[in-house]
Parts: sequence; C-alpha cells; structure tokens
Amino acid sequence: MPFRKDFLWGGATAANQCEGGYNLGGRGLANVDVVPHGVDRFPIITGELKHLAFDEAHFYPAKEAIDMYHHWREDLALFAEMGFKTYRMSLAWTRIFPNGDEEEPNEEGLKFYEDIFKACKEYGIEPLVTITHFDCPIHLIEEYGGWRNRKVVDFYARLAQTIFTRYKGLVKYWLTFNEINMLLHAPFMGAGIVFEPGEDHDAVLYRAAHHELLASAIATKIAHEIDPDNQIGCMLAAGEFYPYDCKPENVLEAQRLNRENLFFIDVQSRGKYPNYALKELERKNIILPIEDGDLEILAENTVDFISFSYYSSRVARVQDEAELSAGNIFESATNPYLKSSEWGWQIDPKGLRITMNSVYDRYQKPLFVVENGLGAIDQPNADGFVEDDYRISYMADHIAEMKKAVELDGVELLGYTSWGCIDLVSAGTGEMSKRYGFIYVDRDDMGNGTLARTPKKSFHWYKQVIASNGEDL
Ligand code: BG6
Repeated sequence: MPFRKDFLWGGATAANQCEGGYNLGGRGLANVDVVPHGVDRFPIITGELKHLAFDEAHFYPAKEAIDMYHHWREDLALFAEMGFKTYRMSLAWTRIFPNGDEEEPNEEGLKFYEDIFKACKEYGIEPLVTITHFDCPIHLIEEYGGWRNRKVVDFYARLAQTIFTRYKGLVKYWLTFNEINMLLHAPFMGAGIVFEPGEDHDAVLYRAAHHELLASAIATKIAHEIDPDNQIGCMLAAGEFYPYDCKPENVLEAQRLNRENLFFIDVQSRGKYPNYALKELERKNIILPIEDGDLEILAENTVDFISFSYYSSRVARVQDEAELSAGNIFESATNPYLKSSEWGWQIDPKGLRITMNSVYDRYQKPLFVVENGLGAIDQPNADGFVEDDYRISYMADHIAEMKKAVELDGVELLGYTSWGCIDLVSAGTGEMSKRYGFIYVDRDDMGNGTLARTPKKSFHWYKQVIASNGEDL
C-alpha cells in the first residue's frame, strides 16, 4: 500500500472564506473583510488601491461567507461522514486579538476554536491549523502599516504563544503562514500591505518578508518549547515552472521563477537566506531589516514539514509575445499540452508528481499536500443534487500522480487535504460560483441563498477514496 497507514486524508478551508460572523463574538475587523467582490478586488488585493473600510458601493462576501460560524457542527459532521482523518482550517486572528496588539486575548474567540478542536477529537479528526490564512487585523494595518513594521512580529508571537498554550493536546499540526510566497504577488492579503505613493515596492515586500520569516521561526520555537510533539509546517503556493522549451534563456527563466517562489521556504526549511536571493537583493539595493540575533533564530528554528498548495504547473518563457494563462495570481505562458478549467487554470496532474519530487529533493523533509482541487460551476439537478464527475476525474488524476510520487519515487508524504472541501468564497475572485466542494452550499455570488448544505456525487466518491486509503479511485 503506497500511503502510510496513518495517512491524513481530509479537506481544507480558511476562516475568511467560510466562517463569516465578522462582527460576532467580539471579533475585530480584518483586511479580508473589506476586500469586495467585483472589479476593485484585484487592485485592493495587490496593495495598489487603499480600501480599509466597508462602503455601500461594494458587496463584501467574507462578512457572512458560508456562515460556518453558526454551521460548523453540521459541517464537521459531514466531514466525519466522509471519513476525514484531518481537517485543515485557519484561525481568524481578530477573533482572538480583535485589534492585534492587545495584551490579553478575547476569551470568546479562543473558546470558539476550542469547541471545534474538541469536536474534532471526538470524531478522531486531527486538526491542521493555519495560524494566518491571508488575514491581518485592520488596526495593525492602520496603526503600524502591516507586516512592514517589526512590531507586528511581536504581536504574532503573542498570538502564537496564546494558541499553542491554549490548544496544547488538542492541536499538533500547525502552519505558520498560508502560501507565504503570495506576499510578493498579493501583499494586502499576504502581509496587510498598502503601498504609499512613490514607495519602492520590492523594498517594502522584502522587508515584510523578513518579518514574516522571523515570526514563523519564533512561532516554531515557541511551539516546540510548549509541546515537543508539535509539528510545524511552512506553506508554499507551489507549481513547478517548466521552461517553455530547451532554449537556454527559457531554462534560466524557469530557474529564476522557481527560486523566486521557493525563496521563503528555503529560509524556513534550511534556516538561512539563499545566496541567489542575497545577490539579487544586493543588486536591487535592498537591505533586509536584519537585527542582532535574527539569523540565529532563523537557523535554529526550521520547520518540521513542508506543506503546499498545488493547482497547476506554470510555464516560463522570456519572450513577451507568449500568450498568458490564468492561475492563482501567477501569470504563466500557456502550456499547449494542457487543458484549462473554466477559470483558465491549466490542469496538470503529472505536475503534482513533478512538484512533489522537486520540493522533496530540495529539502528532504516530509511533505503535506494541503490544497488541490477544481474550481468549477456546479448545476444542481431538480433534486438539488450535483453530479460533479469533472471534479472526481480531476481529483482522481491528481491523487494517482501523488501516489506515484510516494510509491515509485519514495517521497515522504504525511497527508492530502483537498481545497474547499465545502463550497466557500473564492480568494481570488470573491465568487461563490467558483466551487471546489464535496458539499454544495446554497449561496450565490451576491449572498442570496438558504445556506443549505447538500453532499455532491464527489462526497460519496471521496468517502470511498479515504476508506480504501487511496486505492479505490
Ligand atoms: C490558494 C489559497 O491560493 O488557492 C486559497 O490558499 C484559495 O485561499 C485557493 O481559495 C483557490 O483559489 P481561488 O482564487 O480559486 O479561491
């Protein structure tokens, strides 16, 4: 059997995309709350357009999302029915520290997650918890400028200390930052960054990057001190860049783009800044805000495992006439050998095996595939049932390649959590209609619907995949 006996099969969500309850239980406001659906979303996400409050002109999907705040018991019961061994979820920072810089946490927020973790335990589901999944308290953005400010490292460390202490014995697997490399592409989501006019964008981004890397290492240290059983992972938005062809310039470009992606987890896994990055920063006249002791903290507190999301491979080509394909914020030249999803994301199951091998070869640490799936339009039939054979075939093809990486290549793999195991709000577009789930949620892009949950055909399929430990695809 290729997958280990305790292989962690499950699904993944993020607080801002499913929880809702944005003003309940003492929760404060976060960046993710004020990102609207519609044309302004992209410039806000990328930090080009300053938008830190609600207005009448926009619809804000995260405010209610799929209201997991009130539905989580029902949702967890459905995950348990599928046989989940793990459930990846994230904490809303502002539920625990509403402004981010308080001395004392909000008990109601802590209790909310404690109840979920206890219920997971009763079902035998191991929580896999992302500490921040694109969220940053609005107050930290307004008062401190987000992660560009070193004080935010201390606030994050306080959050880490609080949750590792409170959830000791309930949560063992933690991810410090979701898709940490996304900071370079979507800095408002990745680091609460809004650019000031005339600012050197790269200088701001790498400053914030050092702070997040430091915060991640400090959190790792605290986690291990509080409970040596804690397992801390980094999290990469992965997807190998292939050279468009064997033209050396394109091969070099692919190497450059792969390094740009891996830069963060190079530091988190190897404990030091890679030479290629130091040289590039030097050429750009960027000085990282490294203080005494920082490099030791990075060196001494590397992660225990590497997790990543995988939706697609990418293609690198230096010529600018190349036709571009969509992807989670990364643009890529189009790969003529691949088909695309309805959102233009290219579908490449073999790319998952290739990516797993590249990452494992580089770090030699256990891997965890914590996001993978197909965003598609689902049409319920007259009975409200969704026959999502397209999703089943996407996932079966990816799991089959993942299996080869384990069985044929010897990659160490802890588990697999498909993205959006229940329909939720899309991070990139704010739509509900871009659905990933095994469970249909009755809600549309503008927030209409009953919020009723209905298992799709893929629900029953995934149940059988888990029961057979990946044999029955
Ligand atoms: C990843 C994120 O980038 O991709 C998720 O970690 C996101 O938050 C997922 O939802 C899919 O992207 P999208 O834009 O289809 O929601």
